[in-house]
Amino acid sequence: MCRYLQKLLSGHGHQVENFSAGKALLNALAAADEVQGLLLLDVKMPDIDGLEVLQQVRDQYPQLAVVMMTGHGTIESAVSAMKLGAYDYLTKPFPQERLLALVERCLERNQLREENRTLKQELRERIYPGAIIINSAAFRKVYNMALRVAGTNSNALITGESGTGKELIAGTLHYHGSRSQRLFLAINCAALAETLLESQLFGHVKGAFTGADRAQKGLLDEADSGTLFLDEIGELSPGLQAKLLRVLENGEFLPVGATRPKQTNVRFIAATNKDLEAEVRAGRFRKDLFYRLNVVTLNLPPLRERPEDIEPMVQHFLQLAAQKVGRTVSGLTPEALRALKSYHWPGNVRELQNIIERGAILCNSGIIDLEALPIRFAAPNGGADAALLTSFSLRDAEQAQISRTLHQTGWNKSKAAGLLGVTRKTLDKKIRDFDLSPANTGPAA
Ligand SMILES: Nc1ncnc2c1ncn2[C@@H]1O[C@H](COP(=O)(O)OP(=O)(O)OP(=O)(O)O)[C@@H](O)[C@H]1O
Ligand SMILES: [Mg+2]
Repeated sequence: MCRYLQKLLSGHGHQVENFSAGKALLNALAAADEVQGLLLLDVKMPDIDGLEVLQQVRDQYPQLAVVMMTGHGTIESAVSAMKLGAYDYLTKPFPQERLLALVERCLERNQLREENRTLKQELRERIYPGAIIINSAAFRKVYNMALRVAGTNSNALITGESGTGKELIAGTLHYHGSRSQRLFLAINCAALAETLLESQLFGHVKGAFTGADRAQKGLLDEADSGTLFLDEIGELSPGLQAKLLRVLENGEFLPVGATRPKQTNVRFIAATNKDLEAEVRAGRFRKDLFYRLNVVTLNLPPLRERPEDIEPMVQHFLQLAAQKVGRTVSGLTPEALRALKSYHWPGNVRELQNIIERGAILCNSGIIDLEALPIRFAAPNGGADAALLTSFSLRDAEQAQISRTLHQTGWNKSKAAGLLGVTRKTLDKKIRDFDLSPANTGPAA
């Protein structure tokens, strides 16, 4: 059976390992660096009972999905297996297609769960950012206003360049208001295609479209009596603008495919880095929706207009980065700090945070110097970097930078993508294009 399964599954592109008894499997799991994927487990084994193994695996390796194989006529063990948390079971003998379909479905679910987990993690990290650094008078003014508005329960519009802290202020409005015990949910209106955004916001009924095999609640439902943060509201399509207006006017919305409207009580906080009034004048954004959202406007000043915030932020981000990277970083050289202070920060606080984290990874002595900063911070006639520039094509430089970052993050692709300022997808593509692997991305690569 083991050999048959191994041949079948590896023939379909899966990596398979075989164990002929329970103990051998548990030992191998305990010795593995990382456990993931799918375990096909027989109920009857020479040493330990399969259900016993299932229980141990579910406790210790919850990320490993288990499919039990039971003999004909042992429906009780199949039921126990499901109760113990098996993903599914197969009754022997089973047709090959049934096994293959089950394996695909299970691995796909694993992947979705993993993505979901990292998304949630990212969401939490963004929403509970810990300390908010307030040093400049300009930022303090907005922050104090946010605290006053927080208690009023009214909708608010937050404007400001990318990376100025709009989401942070949205969180402040929620967590300092009367809804703080309820959910604060966020959605980026620019990140999703219109139909997907609609079903995320409003939910859908079973059968509303192909693939909607069950009903799904929308964010408007989930955020009921809480707060919904609509990021990049300027990107909302005219159709959805109309539907959202209805919610703002009377709390009513229609899930996709539903015939009867639902009610919700949501506080809306919207953010944009566009000039929304100009969008209204140009006829791209509804005036009535604009006024509903814009009960209060909080405008975040760009970082270049509040240079007093830079140094305390550097200290703050240094601490966060050192923790995250797991090494001690004591500070910056005076030249590096000067370079940061005189920069124009088009990406604002987010750019500063990334540069500090990158510096913490790249610096050698535990002190971030000019060399650990991106090339744009180099002195105008910079020596070392100039040499780098003449001997490298743009493509070479890109490959070198990606290699170095992957190596330094230990091939943690999400982290590397973050540092490089690209999406995971883009990074994956580059890795394929340049044919990079842990073997060819050493420090000198
Ligand atoms: N005053 C601050 N103190 C500490 N961290 C800050 C501050 N302002 C912004 N940040 C951090 O900078 C990053 C960017 O902030 P945020 O996501 O709120 O910006 P944004 O305006 O929503 O950006 P974007 O337009 O790119 O979505 C976050 O990691 C946030 O925690
Ligand atoms: Mg944002």
